[in-house]
Amino acid sequence: MELDYQNPGLRLDQAKSNLEGRIGWESPSNIAIIKYWGKYGDQLPRNPSLSFTLSNSVTRTWLDYAPRTEKEGGEKISLKFYFENELNAAFGKRVEKFLLRLLGVFPFLGELDLEIHTENTFPHSSGIASSASGMSALAMCLCSLEQKLFGTPANEEDFLKKASYIARLGSGSACRSVYPELVAWGTHSDMPEASDFFAVRLPKEQIHPVFSTFHDDILIVSKGVKKVSSSVGHGLMDGNIYAENRYFQARQGFSELLTCLKNGDIHGFGKIAESEALTLHALMMTSSPPFVLMEPESLAIIQHIQNFRAATGLPLYFTLDAGPNIHLLYPEEVSTAVGIWLNDTLLPTMGCIQIIRDKTGQGPRQLS
Ligand code: DP6
Repeated sequence: MELDYQNPGLRLDQAKSNLEGRIGWESPSNIAIIKYWGKYGDQLPRNPSLSFTLSNSVTRTWLDYAPRTEKEGGEKISLKFYFENELNAAFGKRVEKFLLRLLGVFPFLGELDLEIHTENTFPHSSGIASSASGMSALAMCLCSLEQKLFGTPANEEDFLKKASYIARLGSGSACRSVYPELVAWGTHSDMPEASDFFAVRLPKEQIHPVFSTFHDDILIVSKGVKKVSSSVGHGLMDGNIYAENRYFQARQGFSELLTCLKNGDIHGFGKIAESEALTLHALMMTSSPPFVLMEPESLAIIQHIQNFRAATGLPLYFTLDAGPNIHLLYPEEVSTAVGIWLNDTLLPTMGCIQIIRDKTGQGPRQLS
């Protein structure tokens, strides 16, 4: 379903409240089990994806606003952007471009002086993509600002739908971070409510409780700058000879994953998660130009995981994003055994690895 959020009427002379203030939101990163890889049009996905919203890896964003002092001759957006307390021109430019694109939806943004302060709880350049948490936190702030000034969106459901739509325009995967626990984005015949334009939360009754407390420990293999940006990576799918089969595979995997999530089938879940991760990397290796995004340590860790599983029979699985870091996926019931294995076997062998412990989370939170 296409939504039209263009609203030329949202001008400051129509505002119902104080034109000056501060809004803050904290929003989490997410980890996709079925991967979004390949897009069309205005950041719309070629296939449905499904992710866990995380809990500890979050961005905190504060938006200060006041009526614009300089009326004539300025830029269309007046923005000062601070990342971790320092003015950051590079991030600021990206956000300014994003806000310019949103002027049709939020025309009042052109009438305000804006100041954004943002920070991440995960270490800077740890290799964790911050665009999902960052863009979703900003989208929540923008929708809150509209709500404060004009009283719309009028209810929570509409608010979250709009925030997800706006976050998507900033970064595709960000649209999933707006909701708790398990979140789907992209049309699929098994989920009539799903859309390419915004994400939807999987209903509680479709999730076995074992998945509500699932762990995701992120093993940081390399802190370097990404070899290829997500946008370039998505673009390479357009010329990839496996693309159509891949989109078919993702739709099939999505169906199977829904069944696993409902039945509490952790083994089925893990099989799909690992297949999706390896497929994503295979797609990058078969792109033109090709990219190898794993490091030797990534493969070594994958082997350690397989050995752990063979030796213990316990459900420990992995996934990766478009980079070398490994996400360890496992249910709460094996967290003690995995913790011991991490401390006694994996971390001593792979000395340089940093670890971020995370798990399924409840979505964004407004900051006071
Ligand atoms: C591999 O959402 O970062 O993490 O829409 O260009 O901002 P843009 O891409 P982005 O792509 C994420 C790709 C992925 C898989 C996923 O999160 O679904």
